[in-house]
Amino acid sequence: MTSRFYITTPIYYVNDVPHLGHAYTTVAADALRRYHLLRGHEARMLTGTDEHGLKIERSAAEAGKTPKDFVDEMSERFRAAWPVLSVEPDDFIRTTEPRHMERVQDIWRRVEASGNLYLGSYEDWYCVGCETFKTEKELLPGNVCPLHMKPVEKVREETYFFRLANFEQRLLALYRDRPDFIQPETRRNEVVSFVESGLRDLSVSRTSFRWGIPVPGNPAHVMYVWFDALANYWTALGGAGDPLQRFWPAKGRDTRAVHLVGKDILRFHTVYWPAFLLAAGFTEDELPSQIFAHGFLTVDGQKMSKSLRNAVDPLRLARELGADVVRYQLLRAIAFGQDGDFDHKGLFTRYNADLSNTLGNLLQRTLGLTTKLTEGRAPTVASEDLDTDLLGEEVRNLTTLTAERWENLEIHRALESTWAIAALANQYVDRAAPWAAAKRGDQARVDVILATLLEVLGRLSVMVSPVLPSKSAEMRVQLGLPPLATSLDHDQWPKVAGAFRGEVLGSAAPLFPTFDKAAEHAMLEKLMPRPETAAVAVASTTSAANSAVDPVADTVEASLPITYDQLSAIDLRVGLVRTCARVPKKDKLLRLEVDLGEPELRVIVAGLAQTFTAEALVGKRVIVVANLAPRDFGKGLVSHGMILATGPSDALRLATIDDAAPGSRLR
Ligand code: MSP
Repeated sequence: MTSRFYITTPIYYVNDVPHLGHAYTTVAADALRRYHLLRGHEARMLTGTDEHGLKIERSAAEAGKTPKDFVDEMSERFRAAWPVLSVEPDDFIRTTEPRHMERVQDIWRRVEASGNLYLGSYEDWYCVGCETFKTEKELLPGNVCPLHMKPVEKVREETYFFRLANFEQRLLALYRDRPDFIQPETRRNEVVSFVESGLRDLSVSRTSFRWGIPVPGNPAHVMYVWFDALANYWTALGGAGDPLQRFWPAKGRDTRAVHLVGKDILRFHTVYWPAFLLAAGFTEDELPSQIFAHGFLTVDGQKMSKSLRNAVDPLRLARELGADVVRYQLLRAIAFGQDGDFDHKGLFTRYNADLSNTLGNLLQRTLGLTTKLTEGRAPTVASEDLDTDLLGEEVRNLTTLTAERWENLEIHRALESTWAIAALANQYVDRAAPWAAAKRGDQARVDVILATLLEVLGRLSVMVSPVLPSKSAEMRVQLGLPPLATSLDHDQWPKVAGAFRGEVLGSAAPLFPTFDKAAEHAMLEKLMPRPETAAVAVASTTSAANSAVDPVADTVEASLPITYDQLSAIDLRVGLVRTCARVPKKDKLLRLEVDLGEPELRVIVAGLAQTFTAEALVGKRVIVVANLAPRDFGKGLVSHGMILATGPSDALRLATIDDAAPGSRLR
């Protein structure tokens, strides 16, 4: 029987452009899809966009567009983004599509028929950013949402309630009977305690805005955006009787449906979603197999700001470094299931160590030796004669272990064990020393060594393919192997040796050309916010702010559009420079004390010293990004803002303003 694997990402809100956090989930889902295809399973990946709700309606209004035009445009950015990262979803669902809207209405009717909806009225705090009601204890003083740092709104409306409280016991039994339903374990425990502490009925419709799916039979109401959005996993598989439903809900061990989500939206997926499904008549064993929550990314140790998070544009990274490199960094640097950091310096360290020096070097060395010692042909050696010194138990165990890790969604560990094989093979080259055997005239031994290495490389070309699809294909060309073509029930996970039969090998070209220090530096300069050359006071976490002073960014590519919300999150103020001094032992930096109309002067450290003397700046009115996270320059020197300027670091021009009071806000 064919095994099936259905993998979904959250559908992304279209008030934002695709950022690294979205890319993370989506790349992980794609890698899992590719792994299962390799195993001969029937795999299906779904992603898409979440396009209804108050947040989107407001973003559209701020952009001066109709909601429809706005969502069409923004959704397209997501659809177009994924191929740049070599992500190939089987379906892309939009919640404004008729196929979705009609089927959500069917689910609504089923839930209503089960007696789990009733009309009432509600008054509570609502956070538009989260699209959810909040209890007072979840808020910060001043009724501010801790995630969005914006005041919540008091909402009083007639609403349909979903009888969530009815499902408390069934949910707890579900978590108990199916320990894998929520993973990782710590997340499961959080959800269990949440449900144990008691569930309140849930408001699932709104009357105060129109941008949503009308409630059947009562069009004054539109559905709660999460009721609408969660259903996408079901609506994308067609209605009742659609053959796609073989992916889910299909009973039996051989079908797995996994929702990948960020930890921020775990409760929606593990409490509301199963409760909606149970209410709509699904049985416990028809629920998805697993909700897996991954952690949150920071970038270079900094939190990705909710409103300014296109700081690192994953698409730009992919265009500069290749999709495979970005995929590898995302999936290797961050333990899947935990929070982690995407750091640019680490990216290059890992690139050089793992990709270039381990995998790339193994391929190049082996091909180089083959050209020299066997005239570029793979030696024909019977599989039982291959060298067990390399292709012995250890490599076989690592291969099996890697597959188990993929099955358990331990992606970073699957990569770890894959690369352990490559490291063993590199050590083997030195130990087996085929050049010495050649010198002795022992061609049979040369053949065994090279055939063994080629065999391992062939194996690696398969094992890396879920994460490095393009490089895997390049490897196979160089190895003279046919492209990997997956097909149903054909398990291609390496098991037995014997891939090579005297193939003529392709020509060797470095798989991952190394970045020397200068090239790495140049690339980092291009990719990262640059406090010094860009003459900004602190490393910005926002490309939006940085492009204001970044001549390269202006010429390389136009900045991504930002929303009004994002723009208003940048606090630009008039600052009057009161004092200024050079920073000892730093040729580029000045330490300024700037009057922003606050009780105390702000200390700002800026890369202005190659253009300006300290004295020249005192008394100038400059433009300051006043709400940038502080940056620590060490030795007690901390910068609390950024000064805007343009030009190269030795010929800067400051953005200045006449006659405005210190602290005046620019808008
Ligand atoms: N539209 C809802 C999801 C509905 S699913 C039925 C939503 N959308 S979102 O655009 O805000 O994207 C949420 C997802 O993006 C998170 O769950 C997570 O997968 C991903 N991430 C957003 N920021 C992230 C990080 N900083 N790090 C990792 N992933 C993050 O919520």
